[in-house]
Amino acid sequence: MSIIKLLSKKTDRFLFTTPSHNQKPIFSKEYSEFYKDDYSELEGFDNLSNPKNSIFMAQSKASDILDTKKTFFVVQGATTALLAAMKALIEPADKVLVARNCHKSVFNGLILCAGMVDYFMPDASPEWGIYTVIDPKKLEKTLELNHYKVFIMTSPTYEGVNSDIEKISQICRAHDTYLIVDEAHGSLYNFSDKLPKTAIAQGADVSVNSLHKTAGALNQTALLNIGKNIKNVDIALFQKALNLFHTTSPSYPFLSNIEACISYLSSKEGKNNIDTLILEIEKMKDELKRFGVSFYEDFNHDPTKILVKKEGISGFDLSDSLFEDYKIEDELNNSISCLYLCGAGTTKQKLEKLKNALKKVRTNPSFDFVEADFQPFPMVKIQPVDTFNREYRYVNKDDSVLKISNKMVIPYPPGIGLLYPGEAIQKWHLDYLENDVEIMV
Ligand SMILES: Cc1ncc(COP(=O)(O)O)c(C=O)c1O
Repeated sequence: MSIIKLLSKKTDRFLFTTPSHNQKPIFSKEYSEFYKDDYSELEGFDNLSNPKNSIFMAQSKASDILDTKKTFFVVQGATTALLAAMKALIEPADKVLVARNCHKSVFNGLILCAGMVDYFMPDASPEWGIYTVIDPKKLEKTLELNHYKVFIMTSPTYEGVNSDIEKISQICRAHDTYLIVDEAHGSLYNFSDKLPKTAIAQGADVSVNSLHKTAGALNQTALLNIGKNIKNVDIALFQKALNLFHTTSPSYPFLSNIEACISYLSSKEGKNNIDTLILEIEKMKDELKRFGVSFYEDFNHDPTKILVKKEGISGFDLSDSLFEDYKIEDELNNSISCLYLCGAGTTKQKLEKLKNALKKVRTNPSFDFVEADFQPFPMVKIQPVDTFNREYRYVNKDDSVLKISNKMVIPYPPGIGLLYPGEAIQKWHLDYLENDVEIMV
């Protein structure tokens, strides 16, 4: 029986189990919808740590739809999916190559699995102020110099830039390196021909999706996908790794939400919804181009991530102006551009509002964009695993250059580290540091 059906059959049992709320709100009626399906793993219900019935079937169905070797449901976000993927593939002291624009959970994963990190710099676009693709040729050279057990990268980026995973996975395979693709922002890719192919379809060993980001599911819902071509790994290791991080009280509303999300997106209605959204975005862009508005659009760009800049206004001012004058909030912004993120729930009306605001926003003809700078190569002095419990002291910011940071500097979103513990503080970091800086002793 599906998870959704299981929950829809009202139980006639007298539950002396957790949760004790009796599927009803005790302290606030407004939460009644949250409570009604909130069971724990009752007799006959399945168990996320060792699924055999409803959860197993729902995961198998998802795996068929996504064409994976195995798909696991995750109720603690892509963060936990990434941690589990890393724990399953990386043993202590294994060398790991990490694209520097990875989410901070990858750094945390390095602490947990004790991998030895080298960073790989993605390409960047100074005209848009964003990281872009992983250059396959540069990657190949890096893998020729050193053997890495795993390469971890993000594709699409927050802004919808997609790397050539097909090439990258071939290169990784030829160098005996597992490829983990953080596809948190690409959860819709399996469900429209107008979107790039999924990382798994392009040969990645592992991918993770945040279903809550664009696919219309609740916060915290995610998937861990294992590719069909993965070699020399017992799939049970991924379950074992997930069980290290997952709560032992997974939320059934979240699990059924994941099931429903995939079932909807793979339906005719779901696919139509995504295709229509993309058509509406394309129409909006065509119209706005006549108003000095430009969009990031390389050939493999995800059109649901509207990355926009307008002549005569900085990204920061555009963001402020749309927020203050039109109540439109972006996902993130930089000195040049703003990201308006769309997904399964984005309506035509909302796009219309954005379109009108972008047309009308006031600009200054004498304003000129200044190309963005990107961080220079990080100087890793102490490996992440050795940074967790170090002693530290404070120094004045001006005396901190080339000392080893005990702190993360990490604007959120996008959650990409400018400085991680164990790295030398470089001059350019000073702009981001407070007066008293924690350095390792
Ligand atoms: C690229 C990327 N990966 C992973 C995550 C973590 O996802 P979640 O919030 O589902 O744990 C994020 C969240 O912002 C992200 O942007």
